[in-house]
Amino acid sequence: KKRRHSLAASTASGSGSGPASASVNDTVDEHDTPPPVDSLSPPPSSMNGLGPVPGSSKKAHLNGSSAGPSTSHSNSSSAKAKAQAIQEQRAQLPIAKGKDKIIEEIRKNEVTILLGETGSGKTTQIPQYILTSLFPSLIGITQPRKVAATSLASRVASETQTPLGSLVGYSVRFDDRTSPSTRIKYLTDGMLVREMMADPLLGGYGVIVVDEAHERTLRTDVIIANLKKILRVRNGGGGDDGAKGKGADKAPFNPLKVVIMSATLDAEKFSKFFNNAPILYVKGRQHPVKIYHAAQPQLDYTDAALRTFFQIHTDQPPGDVLVFLPGQEDIEALKTSIELYAKQLPVDKPGVLVCTMFAAQDPSHTSAAFLPAPPHTRKVILATNIAETSITIPGITYVIDTGKHKSKHHLSRLTGGGFDTLLTTDITKSSASQRAGRAGREGPGVCFRLYTEEAFRAMKDADEPEVLRVSLVGSILGMKCLGQEMVELDMLDKPDMESIASALKTLWLLGALDNTQSLTPLGKKMSLFPLDPPLACALLASSSHPPPTTSHVLTLVSLLSTTSKPFLPLTAQERERLHEKTDTSSSNPRAAFTHPHSDHLTLLAAYSAYSEIALTENKASRRAWCRKHGINERAFLEARDIRRQLVEVCRRAGVAVEEGQEKSGAANTNTGTNTSTSTKDWEDWVIRSLGHGLAGNSAFLQPDGTYKQTMGQTIVKIHPSSVLVDKKVPAIIYDELIYTNQIYARGVSAIPKSFFLSLDAFKQRKA
Ligand code: CDP
Ligand code: MG
Repeated sequence: KKRRHSLAASTASGSGSGPASASVNDTVDEHDTPPPVDSLSPPPSSMNGLGPVPGSSKKAHLNGSSAGPSTSHSNSSSAKAKAQAIQEQRAQLPIAKGKDKIIEEIRKNEVTILLGETGSGKTTQIPQYILTSLFPSLIGITQPRKVAATSLASRVASETQTPLGSLVGYSVRFDDRTSPSTRIKYLTDGMLVREMMADPLLGGYGVIVVDEAHERTLRTDVIIANLKKILRVRNGGGGDDGAKGKGADKAPFNPLKVVIMSATLDAEKFSKFFNNAPILYVKGRQHPVKIYHAAQPQLDYTDAALRTFFQIHTDQPPGDVLVFLPGQEDIEALKTSIELYAKQLPVDKPGVLVCTMFAAQDPSHTSAAFLPAPPHTRKVILATNIAETSITIPGITYVIDTGKHKSKHHLSRLTGGGFDTLLTTDITKSSASQRAGRAGREGPGVCFRLYTEEAFRAMKDADEPEVLRVSLVGSILGMKCLGQEMVELDMLDKPDMESIASALKTLWLLGALDNTQSLTPLGKKMSLFPLDPPLACALLASSSHPPPTTSHVLTLVSLLSTTSKPFLPLTAQERERLHEKTDTSSSNPRAAFTHPHSDHLTLLAAYSAYSEIALTENKASRRAWCRKHGINERAFLEARDIRRQLVEVCRRAGVAVEEGQEKSGAANTNTGTNTSTSTKDWEDWVIRSLGHGLAGNSAFLQPDGTYKQTMGQTIVKIHPSSVLVDKKVPAIIYDELIYTNQIYARGVSAIPKSFFLSLDAFKQRKA
């Protein structure tokens, strides 16, 4: 019964199916450029196996990087002029002309679906439009990624000329910048799920905007399923099975509006799900992008990216370059090599400025990517898929696409272990088009794909939704707290029964569920922690041991929750010497901390040593110390922040943390004489606490010297980076499985085999 509108003929939707034809007006349409991406590659003939760098035919209106307010010269212009420039830029965004229509639809409808090309202004403008037209108490905008939430919030704060955290704020795991006066709140989908556990009807919000819905993260799917229920309760229409809880007795409910946004969405599916909600299209400004494919498969994509970048830099007209890489390690490696080669360029060549953008990056470093390059300099931004649709960087003319990204997979869905693994995999056709599209936002652009056209054709159209490939443990625990069963919830896509069963088994193993699959008090407590349930379980288990066990376990779970790994990868040579504790630290950077039987205790010792150093040393020498010991300081700093937040959660949850040892952060592994317990004791307790959480990630030594999972049939090997490699201990726990040509356990500790006999779950399993 509901209609669908097209604010403009869409170039983004591609398929041309149904909705676009029901056009109501053309308010947004002003550029009539044909769909830009996916043009065919010219005949391959190349140096280095890459497609040819095209002739310098295209200069066009390159480098519109002076367009954005972030690019205006702040020191010379008054605040007033700056404010005006911002408003002018806002008015020029493709979405601006559709504003009235969009607001009208949102006003009329419970749920509105909004499609618009990346960069058209959805994420930054829609919340501001809603605020000034509909005056809701609070607008929440979800983002799948932390960096997007934080950086978009600061952008919108500056557009509204208010300090971040007042009118406009953000909330992400372990970091909250909101205040009672906040009306526009950017938050990760994970944070909104957590908020739902405290307030099942999300009563504080007048509008929820689910952004980047096409990414179909598990948490976004869970939110969408719950929003459907919440709408029924808050907006009337019979709140039969509605979420119950605190909010439920606060009648009357203020109505809720939902906006679903994306650049590339299967909008029909969402529309159907929400009772034929209207679909609006906003046309972006997409200029043609010429696409070149590699002539041959590239074995080393960072190397290929390096060569391609310098080809562009030496042969092509000015314009910034955006390189898509799978992760932080590749980004940092490529940054180092680009900077190295750039130094050797002839002095008359333009310089190179390298910026980076990835999840674990310090937010203050992210802003550099938005600033214009200094004169006579080409800016190159090395980014993960964060720059694909979530964050638009102005001024990009060239895109280099490695064709890879990292995606979450749960590799032991059937054996219970609770963690997901990030795997580097091929991107999809949809991602490839989005990436190419980044080159054509301000003028014609060029995209170099470091994969062949055949490889492109072999790509999947789109990724499977996460609900079909990641661990359901955390989500099911959250739902149990809301009195919901995943099997009963109306979701966009239903997970298969096997993975639900395996998640339930893990939760039972952790003691979060009883034999009737009901939530236990322990499970309720676990859900209070913004941690993977196994780590929350380990933390809670630690409280049955004397101090300072909990303090150490707290440090450890913080270290295991960081965005990037605390230990940098070892070189092959370093690996060989890893277990030679007597060796000099030059050959094994971690020798000083090595615990003979535990990577976890090794990590704790390293963190403890760092914390000691941090008390006295300055930034530069801390950094040098970390480099010398193969430590990723950023991860340690993040762990310190996480720990601080967790101490707060512990206090609220009634978990005592012995603060005595906290000054030094963690263990004093070598002496331990200043406490009533010996080092040996607390080490044992830390491992046992961890064992409760990682019981599903355990393996026993077999007579033939291999390790076999206790909860499954898989044979695992100990990863070469582990202190336990080549050692034979009766039983191990591990925090991660790595699938290469073999299955490796990484982050391993020896644990007494007898420990498992004391676990109820193991007793019952034997019975
Ligand atoms: O959500 P959507 O992709 O439709 O666009 P947006 O994120 O709202 O971005 C709208 C415009 O703001 C783009 O032109 C961005 O380049 C610009 N922007 C910016 O200049 N600096 C930021 N930190 C964020 C956005
Ligand atoms: Mg957006």
